[in-house]
Amino acid sequence: MAGRSKKSIRVGYLGGGFIAAIHHECIQRVYGVDVEEVGVFDLNREHGEAFAKARGITQFTSLKALLAETDVVDVCTPPYAHAQGIIDSANAGKHVMCEKPLTGYAPDAEHAADFKGNLASKEPMLQSVLASLAQINEAVSRNGVKFTYFENFVYTPQVQKEAEIVRKSNSQILRMIGDESHRGNLATYSSWWKFAGGGSLISTGSHPLGAILYLKRVEGEASYGKPIRPVAVSARVHGLTGIPGYRDAGFIRCNYYDVEDYAWVHVVFEDGTVGDVVTGATVLGGIHDYVDVFANNHSTRCIINPVSLVDSYNPKGSQFQDININTQITTQEGWLHVAPDENWMFGYQAEMQDAMEAIAFDRQPISGLQLSLDTLNVIYSAYLSAERLGQEVVLQRL
Ligand SMILES: NC(=O)c1ccc[n+]([C@@H]2O[C@H](COP(=O)([O-])OP(=O)(O)OC[C@H]3O[C@@H](n4cnc5c(N)ncnc54)[C@H](O)[C@@H]3O)[C@@H](O)[C@H]2O)c1
Repeated sequence: MAGRSKKSIRVGYLGGGFIAAIHHECIQRVYGVDVEEVGVFDLNREHGEAFAKARGITQFTSLKALLAETDVVDVCTPPYAHAQGIIDSANAGKHVMCEKPLTGYAPDAEHAADFKGNLASKEPMLQSVLASLAQINEAVSRNGVKFTYFENFVYTPQVQKEAEIVRKSNSQILRMIGDESHRGNLATYSSWWKFAGGGSLISTGSHPLGAILYLKRVEGEASYGKPIRPVAVSARVHGLTGIPGYRDAGFIRCNYYDVEDYAWVHVVFEDGTVGDVVTGATVLGGIHDYVDVFANNHSTRCIINPVSLVDSYNPKGSQFQDININTQITTQEGWLHVAPDENWMFGYQAEMQDAMEAIAFDRQPISGLQLSLDTLNVIYSAYLSAERLGQEVVLQRL
């Protein structure tokens, strides 16, 4: 790490919900850079007040007011509001860190009430998202601000170790497969496409997809001096808990309005190699997260969660009721894969450290704008492929 920066970086939160609380914990642990949390603007006044009060920071009444007091905006709203938040922040000359996904299709106000994303035609949605990506790219580039894409899979110790292996052993990655699945998206807004920008593919599939696209970038930069990027995609999506015969045993969330709860995606890269993503909201047992890499000179299994760093046997669930065992685990009883430090294991801590160093020491972050643009391009091209029952869609070059 480089030496200490001279002045404090002032951070402002756009949205003060679940993930903003995790970012707050991570900011407390940033080292080598002086960071100051200034405040939050949340569209929901009560959310903003609760978040600000609990952390002793200012509750702003508009994004404009927050922008006046900050150096970097942490975009933590649901996806429908990401693009505007990024563009407004960049145009005000502020650095941006943005949660995944970069953005998503949201209908205009006139069509929002009866919009059903799973039934809507995907070609116009893809074109609208591509236009939005171009606007984000333009705003960030023209204003010369730093943009960190908070894809925590990229920052996990597991994926970073594999990146080092690929880089130093001159690997050619031939195929990869990655998954993030669990028992249901917890955020209420994730039921509706108009807020979430899609279903499992965007909410959880974006994670392994981000890691897979990142590792091919690393390989390309190490071997040829430029990233290897995706060029085509095939996909299927399904609403498994919405099938007429679904038998609800009470363990899996099943009340989605217009989004899928399972997706399968096959990505082809410009060098002819491939990556597969499986993702769903129908998997019990905690978060099912991994990225497998099969290269010409090695194979690696990045086991992200659950992992056996701490395995604990608890004969009586109530004994552990106040202990965070592992996100999305629905029982505290029996043999448990205990997560000793989720912020570290999931890469949240490292992404915050990287974003702060990128600003303080004027360098590009590990996970940046191009990765976020490619991820969204693949996802919305995948939705178009799924509408065509898996027919390949060639990506439009960004
Ligand atoms: N990396 C991860 O593992 C991870 C986990 C959870 C969520 N996320 C991402 O974080 C983002 C937020 O998710 P969350 O779970 O924290 O949601 P949340 O619902 O808990 O919090 C979102 C907050 O944003 C506020 N908000 C909504 N629209 C707004 C607007 N236009 N302007 C200002 N505030 C607004 C809401 O009132 C709410 O308080 C999403 O993009 C999600 O994909 C990432």
